[in-house]
Amino acid sequence: MTNYEEAFKKITAHAREYGFVFQSSDIYDGLSAVYDYGQNGVELKNNIKDYWWKAMVRYHENIVGIDSAIFMHPTIWKASGHVDAFNDPMIDNKDSRKRYRADVLIEDHLAKIEEKINKEVTKAAARFGDAFDENQFRATNARVLENQSKIDAINARFIHSLETNDLADLKKLIEELNIVCPVSGSRNWTEVRQFNLMFSTRMGSVTEDASAIYLRPETAQGIFVNFLNVMKTGRMKIPFGIAQIGKAFRNEIVARQFIFRMREFEQMEMQFFVRPGTELQWFEFWKKERMNWHLSLGIDSENFRFHDHEKLAHYANAATDIEFKFPFGFKELEGIHSRTDFDLSAHQKFSGKKMQYFDPELNESYVPYVVETSIGLDRTFLAILSHAYTEEKLEDGSERAVMKLPPVLAPVKAAILPLVAKDGLPELARSIMDNLKVDYNCQYEEKDSIGKRYRRHDAIGTPYCITVDHQSLEDNTVTIRERDTMKQERIPVEKISGVIAARLK
Ligand code: GAP
Repeated sequence: MTNYEEAFKKITAHAREYGFVFQSSDIYDGLSAVYDYGQNGVELKNNIKDYWWKAMVRYHENIVGIDSAIFMHPTIWKASGHVDAFNDPMIDNKDSRKRYRADVLIEDHLAKIEEKINKEVTKAAARFGDAFDENQFRATNARVLENQSKIDAINARFIHSLETNDLADLKKLIEELNIVCPVSGSRNWTEVRQFNLMFSTRMGSVTEDASAIYLRPETAQGIFVNFLNVMKTGRMKIPFGIAQIGKAFRNEIVARQFIFRMREFEQMEMQFFVRPGTELQWFEFWKKERMNWHLSLGIDSENFRFHDHEKLAHYANAATDIEFKFPFGFKELEGIHSRTDFDLSAHQKFSGKKMQYFDPELNESYVPYVVETSIGLDRTFLAILSHAYTEEKLEDGSERAVMKLPPVLAPVKAAILPLVAKDGLPELARSIMDNLKVDYNCQYEEKDSIGKRYRRHDAIGTPYCITVDHQSLEDNTVTIRERDTMKQERIPVEKISGVIAARLK
């Protein structure tokens, strides 16, 4: 097992052990790529939603939110292009009978060559020390150049086959690169076929009368089809945005890496409607704005990068991903797309309703252009969780696992701990708990030694532990212990709320 795999395994095990994420239908041996959030997970998830909602809806006066239904008229998915084009190319291995995404097999192969380059760079950096110039090394080292030219050649062909939908060439490429099935180890592949990712179900009680409908694969279309409703009832003036948080469903062929790629997941999306011709300025604006949102959580900027799309979807005139350094490498966390007037125009055509805005400054009507920000809630959860998970060796030789979560997102803000469960300490601790729980999610615990209780709260990321001891009964003070530094301070009971509030700001 590689170091990455080892680290990731620890995080997923910790998430399960401490009530963050469980495999769905666990007692029935699980349901693949579907997960449940436990008692701490749901709090963390709700806090992330709240943090996003405040940043997007409350702090932008020209953005409002909606909550549209998951079931929608089936024609919506025809208009949006999902019925015809929301496909992944898949390939089966005839020996293992395992199914893979053809593009992912090639991408994984490319990542292995990239890994070889990175190893050369790391080795050279160690050899040359401070004098090492990475850019020069990458531009001149023969092995790096050879591997880079392999990557470029594969990429060029790969992109061409995807763009021209040349599935036969994708298969040929997999064969020429000698890509083997990770399970059977064989190269015995089927043809590549397109596979639509939407789940469908039937609406209506009598099978013959029932019509097929889809579980939405993105929340965005719920916003587009409510454009007129919100614009009129909210008296919105362009530029304005509509935001929504909700479930989306995709029948992913290859679902792995825990909650990174799920079949049922949540998105936090915002469609920003602008005057045609101004969309690229707004695209740049939202790129900055969204990156700042990620950085505001206190995670170092080296963990994020933009990945601008070279190959644009037919409806977009600019697109970028914000990628996060997950334990398994940089991967997409959020997409920012300039979607032109594609969606509103398509719905105008299919519904026959005018999806237009009358611009009083220009004295004309037009179909607005759209800049979209679309972030996966579960991926954000995974990014925050994996970044926060820390193992520390303490001065006394013991070890602790601590979730250094941004305090504003922590599931529990304070643990109230009577030193012993007698002598009137529980009563005082309970009264402190009753006051604090009005404003913060707190936990009261009296079981086990104080050390064990501290460790339990470190493991779920509680920023403060408040211990009530015998002195508390005499002078109404408590000990407050800070999670990351483990420093303890004695403060009056009436100051506890202020200390927590300051940390959450
Ligand atoms: N409306 C645009 C849209 O849906 P997308 O890039 O397909 O764009 C947006 O999805 C975000 O949703 C991604 O950046 C990712 O964070 C999240 N996402 C997509 N598929 C996912 C899956 N199967 N599991 C978890 N999150 C997913």
